[in-house]
Amino acid sequence: MWVVPTYANPDGSVVTEDVARALVSVPAAAPDFRILWDNAYALHHLTDDEVRSADAISLAAEAGHPDRVILYASTSKITFAGAGVAFLASSSANVGWYKKHLSAQSIGPDKVNQLRHALFFGDADGVRAHMRKHRDIIAPKFDAVTSILAERLGGTGVASWTEPKGGYFVSLEVVPGTASRVVELAQAAGIALTPAGAPFPYGKDPEDKVLRLAPTLPPIEEVRVAMDGVATCVLLAAAEAAAQ
Ligand SMILES: Cc1ncc(COP(=O)(O)O)c(C=O)c1O
Repeated sequence: MWVVPTYANPDGSVVTEDVARALVSVPAAAPDFRILWDNAYALHHLTDDEVRSADAISLAAEAGHPDRVILYASTSKITFAGAGVAFLASSSANVGWYKKHLSAQSIGPDKVNQLRHALFFGDADGVRAHMRKHRDIIAPKFDAVTSILAERLGGTGVASWTEPKGGYFVSLEVVPGTASRVVELAQAAGIALTPAGAPFPYGKDPEDKVLRLAPTLPPIEEVRVAMDGVATCVLLAAAEAAAQ
């Protein structure tokens, strides 16, 4: 089972302590049932409420399933995508098993890159300080998205959206059956959106109603113009659906 415990894609949800405890305790038919605890957004806060997800490894050990959880994370979205440092944590049995396989894959880690990261950050507080600089860049873009959506779509009854406390996405729900039409209309207006259905298995949203908005990359002015355009597309697609 794959779990993104902090600020999960696309709606920014966080696994609570109770849910984590239930997941690590539930009896499983397969003796090798594993949970891949993908904490990719552990430090990617957008507000002062810096949410911390549960310590699944300790909870699993307490629940008598010490090998159930394999936790990992990386600095792909902290330093450089594809040139970061990755982390894996689990029971000593699992880490031993993993290291045996790793030794056949690679002669050793990229120690120069590890040193670069150690020198750049200094310590854990250095990582947190760096993430606050990322927040200074991206939080205003998220504010632009949610305030334009509120201005243009609030009270219309045709859309709702998340206001995430972290992560990379705002999840926008439109009238069922219109998400792919919104993407099409936006594309015709020169606005590139993530394909409808992207957050679902096989890219298939059974209700065709979820759009994942990713505002981190474009400059804030472009985010504003694009969101205004998207709001118009949402209204137009809703009107088309109502007219059918
Ligand atoms: C939830 C999640 N897990 C894993 C990754 C990939 O991490 P890495 O680049 O370290 O393989 C991403 C995207 O970068 C992600 O969003």
